Amino acid sequence: MSRRPLLIVALLIVILAGGVGTFWWYAGAGVDSTTPVPGTVIGGPFTLTDDTGRTVTERSWPGKYLLIYFGYTSCPDVCPTDLQTIAKALDELGGKADAIQPLFVTIDPVRDTPGQMAAYVKAFTPRLRGLTGTPTQIRAMAKAYRVYYAKHPDPGGNGSDYSMDHSAFIYLMAPDGHFDTIYPGTTSPDMLATDLAKRIKG
Ligand code: NI
Repeated sequence: MSRRPLLIVALLIVILAGGVGTFWWYAGAGVDSTTPVPGTVIGGPFTLTDDTGRTVTERSWPGKYLLIYFGYTSCPDVCPTDLQTIAKALDELGGKADAIQPLFVTIDPVRDTPGQMAAYVKAFTPRLRGLTGTPTQIRAMAKAYRVYYAKHPDPGGNGSDYSMDHSAFIYLMAPDGHFDTIYPGTTSPDMLATDLAKRIKG
């Protein structure tokens, strides 16, 4: 799945879903991306299962910023690239990275069991935690974060073979649980690290 159609779909979803302009504010010259956009709410409570089988919620990492990316472990290219970006950016941040908990949330919970998530995330950085859940739990969180995803059957497959279309953004949530900003998955590690360094306090 190439990036461009996904990005366009993702942008449409983000715009339609709430009139967000956060991404556009971010892209716009001189406009601070923290400018509140009336009526926009991204994020909220969630209950999921981490890669050790433990139940987790948005309160499971008190005092930390959450850097959240949605995808799935069989993703051929986009997810691995974007997770590499997150891992590299956190390395570049040095000590400041300790204030950030990176989370990889699957939008393919049927195949992405906790064990599968554990094996996958450790290839990127030991900091990264993989979260899965029931399809209902995942759907609820994806809705709260305005994440688009859809099953894409493999035409030559036997029905169990499929890929997932999904939007690819990196969300930064503040320690108090509020939405801070969003980055396109295509952001470079340097740019991500630079912007995170400005936002992370302490
Ligand atoms: Ni992916």
